[in-house]
Amino acid sequence: MGKTTLIGPFAQILPMTNLNVNGPISDNDLQLIEDGGILINDGFIEDIGPFSDLKSRAGKEVSELYLDGKHVCLPGFIDAHTHICFGGSRARDYAMRNSGKSYLEIAHEGGGIWDTVSKTREASEDELVKGVVKRAKRHLKNGVTTIEVKSGYGLSVDEELKMLRAIRKADTITAQDLIATCLAAHICPKDFKGSAQEYLEKIVEELLPKIKEQNLCGRIDIFVEESAFTVAEAESYLSRAKDMGFDLTVHADQFNPGGSALAVKLGAISADHLEASTDKEIKLLAGSTVIATALPGASLGLGCDFTPARKILDAGGALAIASDHNPGSGPMGDLLTQAAILGAFEKLSNAEVLAGITLRAAAALNLGDRGALKIGSHADLAVFHTANYNEILYNQGNLKPCMVWKNGQLVYDKHKK
Ligand code: NIG
Ligand code: FE
Repeated sequence: MGKTTLIGPFAQILPMTNLNVNGPISDNDLQLIEDGGILINDGFIEDIGPFSDLKSRAGKEVSELYLDGKHVCLPGFIDAHTHICFGGSRARDYAMRNSGKSYLEIAHEGGGIWDTVSKTREASEDELVKGVVKRAKRHLKNGVTTIEVKSGYGLSVDEELKMLRAIRKADTITAQDLIATCLAAHICPKDFKGSAQEYLEKIVEELLPKIKEQNLCGRIDIFVEESAFTVAEAESYLSRAKDMGFDLTVHADQFNPGGSALAVKLGAISADHLEASTDKEIKLLAGSTVIATALPGASLGLGCDFTPARKILDAGGALAIASDHNPGSGPMGDLLTQAAILGAFEKLSNAEVLAGITLRAAAALNLGDRGALKIGSHADLAVFHTANYNEILYNQGNLKPCMVWKNGQLVYDKHKK
């Protein structure tokens, strides 16, 4: 047992406990703790409550970190969908898209996902590690303490393994926990001699067993879309991955509906994107255990509609919000800004937006040990220099955390370089 630390007092703590994973949440449902404190031991929360109570009960073995001024404390944010392991840049795609070129024209002129695959294959494992570490540092300044990171720019057995190893190595360096996901089924690689189904067959036969053996990740993703894989191809691929014990997640309904119904049918943990989901898909998702993950960064990057987040919540669905940070559709990589903007456009309560990047994002990664500040949870904290939590989203990403704690360690302090 290490030493216990008492942190506080906080003007407000938002514990994000006692909230439903599904459906609307009103700001009145947040059980704010005013003048609160948090006791941390060995990286986990030992107790949480009024600062003065914790202080009077704490013995000599407790050190105190007293905060001057007004602060608000939230669970460290969770970015449940990113592609931050990649080589190259797609700034040219962005310029071409905004000048009116279509997705296909851009792909024909050497852009698109395949461009990033080529650059990622050219990069060494160490170069990829450096890129992930650099981008994760940026997310830390937004209070993000857990980041999901997908492969999917290798698209061969060896190159996908290289990416997953790079993510694992980066996880030992970054302040955050990185949760790896295999997205070998991003698109059918141009250089594969065979059909899309044969490619998926090869991945199941040759890559997934190696991932298991080397314990590289526990989650499998696929892009279900006209330009990627059909629902039928995805169904047999994901079913086999599920039989091998992997958690499933799907890039679903980004441009055309289809993937979300499959996610529901197969009991995926989450279905992500959903910009093109209609009332039919929304109803299906809402009646299931699948977490619907909105990716406003992809809508902003592509200049497309937002995911119908309000409708999903009103139907009784569970809504997480993630950045989709990637070189193509989501170059911004700023979860707090994007979540605030989605809230403004979709008329989400502040409680719904904040639950989307804490409690509900943890559910999208099947993680019960974070996303809320309760006894036994990881001591992951995002602390803002303000007296009222409403200031955070009101500032639309411009009010950054002043301190970030990961597993009870102060990993970011705005006032120290
Ligand atoms: O989530 N939609 C598919 N994949 C990524 C984009 C990847 C890329 O363009 O490099 C996404 O938006
Ligand atoms: Fe994505």
